[in-house]
Amino acid sequence: MARILLGVSGGIAAYKALELARLATREAHAVRVLMTEAAHRFVGAASFEGIVGAPVLTDEFERDPSRGAFPGDPAPEHDPIGHLEVVANADAYLVAPASANTLAKLAAGHADSMVTTSFLACSAPRLVAPAMNDRMYRDAATQANLRALRERGITVIEPEQGALASRGEHGVGRLPDPLRLLEAIEAVLPGPSGPWDGLRVLISAGGTREPIDPVRFIGNRSSGRMGMALAERAVARGAEVTLVAANVALPAPPGVRRVDVETAAELATALEAEFASTDVLLMAAAPADFRPSVSADSKIAREGSIELDLEPTEDILAGLGARRREGQTIVGFAAETPEHNADSSAARRGSAGLERAREKLERKGADAIVFNDVSRPEIGFESAENEVVIVEADGEHPVPLASKHSVADAILDRVEALRARSGERASE
Ligand SMILES: Cc1cc2nc3c(=O)[nH]c(=O)nc-3n(C[C@H](O)[C@H](O)[C@H](O)COP(=O)(O)O)c2cc1C
Repeated sequence: MARILLGVSGGIAAYKALELARLATREAHAVRVLMTEAAHRFVGAASFEGIVGAPVLTDEFERDPSRGAFPGDPAPEHDPIGHLEVVANADAYLVAPASANTLAKLAAGHADSMVTTSFLACSAPRLVAPAMNDRMYRDAATQANLRALRERGITVIEPEQGALASRGEHGVGRLPDPLRLLEAIEAVLPGPSGPWDGLRVLISAGGTREPIDPVRFIGNRSSGRMGMALAERAVARGAEVTLVAANVALPAPPGVRRVDVETAAELATALEAEFASTDVLLMAAAPADFRPSVSADSKIAREGSIELDLEPTEDILAGLGARRREGQTIVGFAAETPEHNADSSAARRGSAGLERAREKLERKGADAIVFNDVSRPEIGFESAENEVVIVEADGEHPVPLASKHSVADAILDRVEALRARSGERASE
């Protein structure tokens, strides 16, 4: 249970803050809500007060009937200074939605309302979730404000792409789902110390693109969802996470250091640079196995047929596995499409895939290979769910169909078990 301060500013997405307050209270967090004057034009304070069970504050000069206490906590005997007391008690402060106007004020250090004054006085982790029209978001002023906030250690929860509130408009600027906002808050809360505290975790995600010419490439259907889920769950466990993302359109979870790459060669270089200082490597990316041996300098004209000569790319996992040092844990992924012969049963196809995963485990010097059958439409590349078998030297651990977040947790549980076992062996 944490004490969460929620600042709501004036934007259409303010209605989503109500759902966030509901989810957070349902998860047993104590929530206090601060609203800007403009936010009252979009949603009512009474709804927040009913959900969180505490008064909403707007004006820094108004008296807080709860005297800065969060629901469930005793109020102090004296009448403290409202904006100082409420942040002193908070474990995290999220402004969602953060309007362009409020972001500008926060970036400049203005203190002219309860939302802004408290933000300045808050020493708990601070987060902002911008939500606005695409053009407002892309404007250089907004981008400069976000950069300034990031530089001060404030977590920016990236807005999502899609349909915007203004009719017929699409673009970047949508406030993420309340569940994602809650996960972002929980990720920055100080957790109980555990085996992942300070562990350096390197994760690859997405699919590489190998250029044919300046506009065309050979790619694959990996969306990067599995790697993102692993990154989010590893941060939630207290790890320091670096994500090497190959062509991933999804925003990185808060608290994750992200390095973007395009080709298998760039992926290899980025991972090699990070590997020596890594404790756990999770290779969820799908690097291309082949690339055009020559990439044309200009767009190939549509004239007759062409032949592409493909050469193998570097085997990144095997290369890193050969260089591993004691104390490192390496997990590879095997996305297989078992042969669909009319006479081969699903069980038989599955076991052929598992055999290949086991062979990969040995050949690549990994501690585990996560095997999944990407020929099944309900799991795999672009779906939100997955079903895998974690293949280790001395056994197999099936993970039944579940959200990619649950599967990520199951994979991290196995990493924890593998590390505990190798720690025991080292101390024998
Ligand atoms: C219908 C309507 C919708 C708006 N939606 C947004 C929005 O989604 N994001 C945003 O930054 N500003 C939006 N605005 C503009 C803000 O409400 C305005 O800049 C206001 O001054 C913000 O004040 P605050 O930052 O103190 O809450 C909207 C305005 C109107 C009239």
